[in-house]
Amino acid sequence: MKNNLKPYIQLIQSGEVVAFPTETVYGLGADAWNPSAIRKVFETKGRPSDNPLIVHISDERQLEQFAAHISQNAQKLMDAFWPGPLTLVLNKKSEVLDLITAGLDTVALRMPNHGLALEFIGKAGPLVAPSANTSGRPSPTKAEHVHEDFGKDFPVIDGGPTEVGLESTVLDLTSEVPAILRPGKIGAEEISQVLGIGIKFGSPQNKKEEAPKSPGQKYSHYKPKASVFYDKITVRKPENLYLLQDGDESPASKNVINYRGNLELLSRELYDRFRQADLESYQAVFIEPIEAFKDDFPAYYAALINRIEKAASS
Ligand code: TXA
Ligand code: MG
Repeated sequence: MKNNLKPYIQLIQSGEVVAFPTETVYGLGADAWNPSAIRKVFETKGRPSDNPLIVHISDERQLEQFAAHISQNAQKLMDAFWPGPLTLVLNKKSEVLDLITAGLDTVALRMPNHGLALEFIGKAGPLVAPSANTSGRPSPTKAEHVHEDFGKDFPVIDGGPTEVGLESTVLDLTSEVPAILRPGKIGAEEISQVLGIGIKFGSPQNKKEEAPKSPGQKYSHYKPKASVFYDKITVRKPENLYLLQDGDESPASKNVINYRGNLELLSRELYDRFRQADLESYQAVFIEPIEAFKDDFPAYYAALINRIEKAASS
């Protein structure tokens, strides 16, 4: 797969939006200093304007354009995890566009661990990039997922399937105790270890009535058209897709996939399975409980439970 980035860089420079791969999911990129380009991001996704965007950088020096102050904790975490799937919420500089932060006085920043992404950001400048899906749908983990949502002619830099498959961990460093606002591959234990202090999980993630610290958490997310159920599977029907977690069963039918407790693989493939269910007109996706594998994959466990619960919620 050879990608000539030049036309995509030119699109960004002329104020257009371009989808690009990261190690987590595909992002919908736009110039972080161009208000009309950022508006196109919200329009393309149908995203509510009160849900702020992550600024993607390729070089720590670009942080100074956005963050008012880089604390010791922020520096320790960048040294340990960047480039990587950890987004840091820091106090913003006043110049940062309100469109990005939805009027908050903080800004979310991340440096993705992906060669094409780093090259693209390096040449096109810091980019805002939400996941490149229609709001509410599962995030894209393949270029074709972006085409499903935005059309076959939509500009996408194709980097193949993404490695992690679930969005980055979002960590708020502006509260007294650092708080995970969205769980991801980088888990609470690893973060605590680097900081040498305990951290907490952020504001309630499903309570619409409370003003959430991370506004994105109040909206419905990650949903295929098929209904999602997180439960023990008793009777199987051919019109449903089943993601099993255990047992020696080598399923014969193509609507039964056994992950054998590999939560890393389930994370990588979950959104693709959701989209596959829709393409093949399955009515429901049943996910067998994953608790038994919690201790083997604590970070993936927390991230998966968060996504599955949202996908399964009405
Ligand atoms: O892995 C990822 O993070 C992907 C790839 C493309 O980098 N991006 C992504 O972006 O998932 P998005 O927009 O789908 O999710 C961003 C999350 C939302 O939950 C949003 O509310 C939160 O980050 N967020 C952004 N800025 C914030 C801020 N200043 N304070 C708190 N939460 C913020
Ligand atoms: Mg998203």
